[in-house]
Formats: sequence, structure tokens, C-alpha cells
Amino acid sequence: MDGNGRWAARRFLPRVAGHKVGVDALRACVRHCGDIGVKVLTVFAFSSENWNRPADEVSGLMELLALALSREVPQLKAEGVRIHFIGDRTGLAPKVLNGLAAAEAVTAGNERLILNICFNYGGRWDIAQAAARLAAQGCAITEQSLSGAMALAHVPDPDLVIRTGGEQRVSNFLLWQSAYSEFYFSDKLWPEFDAAALGEAIDAFAQRERRFGKTSEQVLQDGAARKAA
Ligand code: FPP
Repeated sequence: MDGNGRWAARRFLPRVAGHKVGVDALRACVRHCGDIGVKVLTVFAFSSENWNRPADEVSGLMELLALALSREVPQLKAEGVRIHFIGDRTGLAPKVLNGLAAAEAVTAGNERLILNICFNYGGRWDIAQAAARLAAQGCAITEQSLSGAMALAHVPDPDLVIRTGGEQRVSNFLLWQSAYSEFYFSDKLWPEFDAAALGEAIDAFAQRERRFGKTSEQVLQDGAARKAA
């Protein structure tokens, strides 16, 4: 969800004002995903590296998270959204921690749309914590065991990864899980990324040929065999 800061700067507003509008864009995106049948949405809200931002922006984001949870969770619950927070919880303030646990508990019975909110998250952190956990249990480290120990083990790997804000890099997001994801980069700033923009991303995704290491001919044959079955 990149571009909140620039959205605010262009309007001579503080950066946190951009994040506030970012919450509005996220609310609309979650609702639209539910409506069109997306089953899992994973968003990057705060990275392990975002602690290096100016102190007022970091505290503003923490307050915004607590406020957004208290305001949005009842409606998300009513819409069938199940929330999971993904990331390192050590070092988070008790108020924030309580908010995360409450949001997860209140929505635990839902299954229309899984919303994973990556908060104090980094892809490298996830790989390291999974490997450390397996090592502590004396388990062999294999692709399968690592996948099962990752913080996102409860959902399939993402089909589509969207980055807004015009940057074309991964920035430590879903490093393990995006091995075969399709990437889509949008020049729109996150507060401007609306249902139409999401639709364009999904249309572009639908045009891609996903080969998973196979040849194009094999993919076509597999498709024909599936249709015939
Ligand atoms: C990156 O844009 C965005 C973030 C670091 C925060 C994203 C958070 C939200 C959209 C709010 C929802 C999150 C919560 C608290 C639930 P940027 O600030 O790097 O933008 P820039 O590249 O234009 O400076």
C-alpha cells in the first residue's frame, strides 16, 4: 500500500493524513474483494524497517492502527471478514497488542474473506523465525517444513502481488511465498487505488500465462486435459 506519504505531501498535509486516507482505501478494497469473490487478501501495513521513520509518523501509524481496529472491526465482522495479523509482536505496545488479539478473536468465526494484515513484518523475519522454530524442535529444514512454519501457513501462496505508488521492487514482502506469484505495479498512489484500479490489475493477471517452470505447450496440454476430464 505504497504512496500515502506522497499523496499527503502533494496536498501540503502531514504524512499521517495520507495514512488515514490509506485506511479508507483499504476499507474499500476489502469490501470490493469480498464482493468479487477474492478469498484471501494480504496487505503490507508496517514493515520491520518502518521503525526507522520519523518518530511522529511511527507513533501516528500505531495510533491509527488502534483507532482503525476499534472503528472497523464490527463492520468487518458483519461482512464475514476474518482478520489475521502477521508479523513480529515483540516490541509492540500493550494497547496495540490487545487490539490485534481482539480483532482476531472477534472475527475468528468468519470465512468469507481472510484479511492478513502484515504489521511489523518482513519476509526475511518470517523465513528466519520459521527456521529457528524448526531448529528448536529438532525438525529437518525442507521446503515443505519451512512453508508449514511460516506466519502465512494458513493460506495458499499469493496468485497476484500488487504494489502501488510506482516503485518496482519487493521491499521484503512475501519473499518466500511469492516465488511463483504474478507481479503488478501500479503508478497510482495507494489512496487512489480504487475498485477500477483493482479490476485493471485482475484483468492484467488474467492475461498472464502461468507456467510454473513448464513450457507453454505443456501448459496448453494440461488445460486441454482438464477441460476433457
Ligand atoms: C507506505 O506508503 C505505507 C505505509 C508505510 C503504511 C500503510 C498503512 C496504511 C495504508 C494504513 C492502514 C494501516 C493500518 C494502520 C491498519 P509511504 O508512506 O511509504 O508512501 P510514500 O512512498 O509516498 O512516502
